[in-house]
Amino acid sequence: MAHDDAAPALPNDLSAFWMPFTDNRAFKARPRLLASAKDMHYFTPEGRALLDGTSGLWCVNAGHTRAPIVEAIRQAAGELDYAPSFQLSHPKAFAFAQRLTAILPAGMDHVFFGNSGSEAVDSALKIALAYQRAIGQAGRTRLIGREKGYHGVGFGGISVGGLPNNRRAFTLLPGVDHIRHTYDPAAHFTRGQPEAGADLADDLERLVGLHGAETIAAVIVEPLAGSAGVLVPPKGYLQRLRAICDAHGILLIFDEVITGFGRLGAATAAERFGVTPDLMTLAKGLTNAAVPMGAVGVRAGIYEAVTESAAAGIELFHGYTYSAHPLAVAAGAATLQLYADEELFARAAGLEGRWEDAVHSLKDAPHVKDVRNLGLVAGIELTPREGAPGQRAAEVFQLCFDAGVLVRVTGDIVALSPPLIISPAQIDELVGKIGEVLGRVA
Ligand SMILES: Cc1ncc(COP(=O)(O)O)c(C=O)c1O
Repeated sequence: MAHDDAAPALPNDLSAFWMPFTDNRAFKARPRLLASAKDMHYFTPEGRALLDGTSGLWCVNAGHTRAPIVEAIRQAAGELDYAPSFQLSHPKAFAFAQRLTAILPAGMDHVFFGNSGSEAVDSALKIALAYQRAIGQAGRTRLIGREKGYHGVGFGGISVGGLPNNRRAFTLLPGVDHIRHTYDPAAHFTRGQPEAGADLADDLERLVGLHGAETIAAVIVEPLAGSAGVLVPPKGYLQRLRAICDAHGILLIFDEVITGFGRLGAATAAERFGVTPDLMTLAKGLTNAAVPMGAVGVRAGIYEAVTESAAAGIELFHGYTYSAHPLAVAAGAATLQLYADEELFARAAGLEGRWEDAVHSLKDAPHVKDVRNLGLVAGIELTPREGAPGQRAAEVFQLCFDAGVLVRVTGDIVALSPPLIISPAQIDELVGKIGEVLGRVA
């Protein structure tokens, strides 16, 4: 199935582009290129279709090259290419911020814009520190993350993050500590949230005991950890974390870069779990990934404390040239409208049972050690090959690519997060092809 008759020319030298998080040598020896996309599919330069099981990188939640978003970007590009973001702005930035707060939890009334999830994370950490200072708690400088957490690649994000490969080669922020992760190697084939494990949140009390609450500014967690291989929060865990933060004056930050915008069948994970954080990072599905954008949702009271306690002049010495860039704002506004028009968050919620049954049908497939799921997310954990961790999953990724489905692998876990427009037949196709590949891989 060719999407476009005019196949783009293939580059004959791939060396100049240093690819991120990529085995550059292997990739350049055997490239995997995507030339175009429509709805649920990518198309290779040769015109081969790939069913997108990962929404790109957890971000194209409404499906690819959707007409209202494409049109909004086109229109905006001809109207206002750029407006300086410091001491100036453009009207649509304010309208978009207001529109966005309308789908955030009640009381999350302000947003700060950046260009990526990593920038949203660094912005949220800085806002947390600025807030503590503004309310007279300048001694609260410590930031707490969680083991196995992924919060992007800024120095702030890797410091609070808990993935060893992303940290070990770099200098990290001082004064950062981590609560324990929620991965339970003994839990197998849990459907939805695990019943046990809320008490894992009590690990925060250990760090309060160790460091003193008066030194801790904020705790950041992914409500559902994605990059670590889909770790679903145990029932009551996030509620408990919220209660401990409240008891000790610690801000709670949810990193919703992948859980926002319908991934868990609601606008945010905060809404799904009924737990409201103080700050929330967003990116990816915010613009359906059509233009890069990140944002921090900020609870009322935090914005006021920082802006009102400052001396006249700039209140927060932080921001980006492209904060609320006109093209990103246009893409974001069209994306939120499309989510609403097609009721995509509710659609994802409605598909969750079908999705759960489909992914758990892989329980008895070769090499499958565990299957986890929530919303339109699933993690299929494979038994690692003896002495070669990650290799089996890497082969599954390539074989799936060859078989016409795009999956993502992290370690020995196949992580799935399809666009919210996936049809039941496409769910079967995706899971069926993965099952077939698992039967072929050694
Ligand atoms: C939870 C989380 N936070 C932050 C990021 C970083 O986002 P970006 O790659 O846009 O900087 C990601 C990216 O996958 C993520 O999953």
